[in-house]
Amino acid sequence: MTTFKEQFIIDVLKKQELNGLDPFFAQKELDALLETNDALSRVAHDLFLKENHRAAGYKLLVKALRKRLRDKFGVYHLQTKKKTGTFSDDDVFKLLQTHRSTNERLSFYAQVYGELFAKIVPTSIHDLGCGLNPLSSIFLPTNVTYYAFDLPNKDLHLLQTFFQTRQQTGSAAPLDLMDLEAVDNAVQRPDTIFLFKVLDDLERGKRGHSKKLLELLLSKHPRMIVISFPTQTIGGKQQQSHRGWLVRVLTELGVRADSFVIPTELFFVVKL
Ligand SMILES: C[S@@+](CC[C@H](N)C(=O)[O-])C[C@H]1O[C@@H](n2cnc3c(N)ncnc32)[C@H](O)[C@@H]1O
Repeated sequence: MTTFKEQFIIDVLKKQELNGLDPFFAQKELDALLETNDALSRVAHDLFLKENHRAAGYKLLVKALRKRLRDKFGVYHLQTKKKTGTFSDDDVFKLLQTHRSTNERLSFYAQVYGELFAKIVPTSIHDLGCGLNPLSSIFLPTNVTYYAFDLPNKDLHLLQTFFQTRQQTGSAAPLDLMDLEAVDNAVQRPDTIFLFKVLDDLERGKRGHSKKLLELLLSKHPRMIVISFPTQTIGGKQQQSHRGWLVRVLTELGVRADSFVIPTELFFVVKL
């Protein structure tokens, strides 16, 4: 039988843009939300004690958790329909169009991967906070082993099926980049690491977290770390294109980066 709390999570995830998320992850986010918000925590305590889904607090809490999940995850998906078919190049193109970041990058993949891998041929890629970017491996110059990580959601299943169907060596697994112990366990002997458009989210979660994450990743001696940032807001407005804070963090960590841009994105490349 579904408990009151489970039903609450089911209700939260009923919104179309959130329904790819794993209920267990939503539950974890609810706990984190209540830990940092005393007023909501009191509402939730009362609600879960009385188990009254008609109480005013129910709607309030549903809204608050949806906002948190949307901020973290929901805004990136342009469409939720994901008919996978046979993962032909045409299917993959259509899938890449369903995620904001890969859609924006679609006409530039050849240029980006050409730039990154002109001199260094990757043997493996750890794509952290990957979204649907692993599907872009069809643009890579060679067959690499592709390790895809993101927050727990249905896209990971899609990526796993993609790897199997296209006989691409790789795996897709849930990983919360805020959890450094989990990152330490998940990222083993990396060659090339992608952190595409994810550090802003992590900084929003906890200021200074990117530095700790980068320090951990550098200690694993990858050959290359590629970090990118959007140069436009989700609404399409131009936003800060120079990430001075990242350059400072990299200097403090004793490494330097080259950079290049495409119309909607700024890339930093750390070669080691
Ligand atoms: C703007 S999207 C970029 C997706 C992909 N890297 C790309 O550029 O195509 C940000 C991604 O970071 C993921 N993300 C946000 N916070 C995360 C966290 N704490 N751990 C893992 N992934 C996270 C989101 O789920 C989302 O897929």
